[in-house]
Amino acid sequence: MQSTRITLNHIRKVKKQGIPLVVLTAYEYSMTRILDQSGVDILMVGDSLGMVALGYDSTLPVTVEEMLHHCKAVRRGSERAFLVADLPFLSYQSSPEQALNTAGRFLKEAGMQAVKLEGGSEAMALTITKLTEVGIPVMAHLGLTPQSVHQLGSFSQRGKKPEEQDRLLEAALNIEKSGAFALVLEHIPNELAERITHKLTIPTIGIGAGPHCDGQVLVTHDFLGLTETRPPFAPDYLNLRTQVQQAVLRWGQEVREHHFP
Ligand code: KIV
Repeated sequence: MQSTRITLNHIRKVKKQGIPLVVLTAYEYSMTRILDQSGVDILMVGDSLGMVALGYDSTLPVTVEEMLHHCKAVRRGSERAFLVADLPFLSYQSSPEQALNTAGRFLKEAGMQAVKLEGGSEAMALTITKLTEVGIPVMAHLGLTPQSVHQLGSFSQRGKKPEEQDRLLEAALNIEKSGAFALVLEHIPNELAERITHKLTIPTIGIGAGPHCDGQVLVTHDFLGLTETRPPFAPDYLNLRTQVQQAVLRWGQEVREHHFP
């Protein structure tokens, strides 16, 4: 296992070698240390932070300051993984200059190595070009883009209709041309993810997008069974919620019965 910090060169190399990328979200120090020492390639401080760690009902309220606070903790906890920060809603959509100022803070203040942004419009392609031109690596995100939940109407699967599939493929190609180093594909049909993956030279990283992507990402809280409901695509290797509850119930009983300490 590589012991020094993973770089973009490594990510490009494993894509060429056909080795899938292992990606998990991280939000705080202790869990980051465990994930980092378990060989995860990319740790993503997702704005899912808002839902799993801050108790918001969507990712929309998450602020740049909240993200920076958690990114700094993840940076302190990691030695090996490549670090990506989500840019929160409305911190990058107004203009490429706004995106540059926000993204720059994540590299300068929080030690992140790349940023992730959602969407595949022409305007977003210009923003990706602007960031990559000044040396900020960008991971893009298509399919179910949670920051657009109100526009999309729900968190359901995207890319079911042929016209939408063609639009997503075209957006993916534009994103690659704009200089993004990777593309997250969230909750789209497996066949569409396969089609996009075969057309791109940059790695696709799937979440609920089937087995044909170049890597897989999960929200760590879903994966470990910490959330109350687990999405169908998250494997159930572990149910930490139940294990924590059982430990707390047992200890609480021992305390109340004067058996602890
Ligand atoms: O916010 C997030 O955690 C994400 C990943 C699920 C891709 O965007």
